[in-house]
Formats: sequence, structure tokens, C-alpha cells
Amino acid sequence: MFSEITPALAARMKQLEDRDRGDRSDGTSYSHRLKQIPPDVGKFLALLAAGAPPGEFVEIGTSAGYSALWISLVTEQRGIKLKTFEVLPHKIELARETFSLTARWNSVELVEGNFLEKGTHLQSIAFCFLDCDKAYYEQCYELVAARLVPQGLLVIDNALSHFDEIKPIIDKICSDERLDSMIVPIGNGELVCRRKPTA
Ligand SMILES: C[S@@+](CC[C@H](N)C(=O)[O-])C[C@H]1O[C@@H](n2cnc3c(N)ncnc32)[C@H](O)[C@@H]1O
Repeated sequence: MFSEITPALAARMKQLEDRDRGDRSDGTSYSHRLKQIPPDVGKFLALLAAGAPPGEFVEIGTSAGYSALWISLVTEQRGIKLKTFEVLPHKIELARETFSLTARWNSVELVEGNFLEKGTHLQSIAFCFLDCDKAYYEQCYELVAARLVPQGLLVIDNALSHFDEIKPIIDKICSDERLDSMIVPIGNGELVCRRKPTA
């Protein structure tokens, strides 16, 4: 899978990594920062996604499309599209540029708008990466968990970097009888949840 990273993909990934690093120190306003995952988390997501059962692949919070590029390594192989949701127009524009430069439109669908409004039609989610504003985490989790197929995966970012802020939601998810969950200390901390085969 990683050997299928094309030169165009590698070049855009590097460009976004450089920009994200710069954003954090050059005074870029909070809403314009990319706030993307680091490369090792991208690889981790792709490895997890590769083991997901059949069903829909979803990302909540596209930003410029960096994490979507990693997940698209899997959707490309499966002949399906990752549905990635983004609400901010300037991020949508950047993501569109990313998916055009890297020729990803066969493996990615960019959905413009709030996931909580645009994601309600989803039926059978096999893999979801939740990485939007923390204020929406609980509602997004409720919507996704109810639609996860048996053995489907939900991965939630910032479980350690924002632990105190989202602890009530983490506790709620970790006691959800439908799921087996644990925090993996990689990047900002990934809460990995798997729907039980019989739940
Ligand atoms: C942390 S960034 C995503 C980074 C991206 N996953 C990556 O690693 O490359 C969060 C993004 O979620 C978007 N967002 C926040 N709430 C959202 C919602 N309810 N629906 C869709 N997108 C949302 C924000 O505009 C922002 O661009």
C-alpha cells in the first residue's frame, strides 16, 4: 500500500506537512491553520483502514485533505470513495486543489458542509476518522456509532492532546457496550473503537 504513493502524492503530502508546520509558528489565524495529523498517524490510519470490513469510508474534518490522502490509499485499492466532510469554504478550496493535484477523484468524494447535516444518509460505515471541532464530537460519535457495521472502526483524534476537554465523551465511548475501545498514544492520541461482531 505505501509503495503505491505516487510522486504527485508524496509531493503534495510534503507541501502540506511544511505548511502545517509553518502555520503553527508564523501567526496564521486559528481558522486558517491546517491542524492536520502527523505522517505517522497517517500511516496508522491507512493500516487500520486496510483491515476494515466492507462498507462506507468516512472522514469528518478534511482541512486541506492530508489525512484523506492517507486513507485514500485504501479506498483506491478497494475501488470505493472516501467521503470526506468539510465545512469551511477556504479549506474546501485547498482540499479540492489537493485531490486534483494528486489525481484522487476516483478514491475521494469531498462533501461540502456540516457532517451533522450532510452525513445523516450514511447507512453502513466500515471506517470513520473523526477529526472536526471538539464541540461536535459527541453528536458525530452518536451518528457514526449507530451506523457502524460489525467490526467497523471509528478513530477519534486528539484523545490525549485534548483529554481534559473531551474526557466526558471519552468515558462515554469507552463504556459503550457496542464497542471495544482504547487510546493509542500516537500523534495527539487516537481513540480507536471497533464495533463488536455481534453488537
Ligand atoms: C483538525 S482539522 C482536520 C485535519 C485533517 N483531518 C487532516 O489531518 O488533514 C478539522 C477540520 O474540521 C472542519 N470541521 C469542523 N466541524 C465540522 C463539521 N461539523 N463538519 C465538517 N467539517 C467540520 C474544520 O473546518 C477543520 O478544517
